Amino acid sequence: MKLAVLASGEGTNLQAIIDAIKDGTLKNVSIEYVISDNPNANALVRAKRSGIRQIIIDKSNMVNVLDSHFDAVDLIVLAGFMKILPSKLVVDRKIINIHPSLLPLFGGKGMFGLRVHKAVLESGMKVSGATVHFVTENVDAGPIIIQECVPVDSLDTPETLQEKVHVVEHKILVKAIQILQKGKYRIEGNKVIY
Ligand code: GRF
Repeated sequence: MKLAVLASGEGTNLQAIIDAIKDGTLKNVSIEYVISDNPNANALVRAKRSGIRQIIIDKSNMVNVLDSHFDAVDLIVLAGFMKILPSKLVVDRKIINIHPSLLPLFGGKGMFGLRVHKAVLESGMKVSGATVHFVTENVDAGPIIIQECVPVDSLDTPETLQEKVHVVEHKILVKAIQILQKGKYRIEGNKVIY
């Protein structure tokens, strides 16, 4: 299965996929490109280190470049990609996203990074977690493939919560790719059944 991974920042989720391919957790999976809208993204450094082709996009070429590269892969993974994809690119494509909360809570436009964890702490919730979902035209609202919880402790700060959630992100992103690779799932409404 050929992947394109889109990342704007640190790229630890990208790294989790790279590591899972290297250690055989993901078999017959390859990352064809890492695509970023941020030329300084550490994700690009990680891609380079692993010999993966890197593509940098900007506003002027984003739609055309993504359109052609998306056609060349089986699955597109948004792993901390900070741009919202125009619906033209989303329709009829298999795209997944990792989000650092238990969707449908704490998602949507503007909910990214520490903002998410700050909102979780302010809500008083005793659990948080991460979600991998299909990307649809509505931000963070597509069918949920997999989620995992982490406990919220009274001493947590947005930073410590982010750290805990990151650990489960790396696990469930790899699991989601395995589920999609097996292909034994179906989507009914907003549910993914497997
Ligand atoms: C993660 O928290 C992910 O859930 C969100 O962006 C962050 C990316 O982290 N979409 P990293 O760049 O993979 O370390």
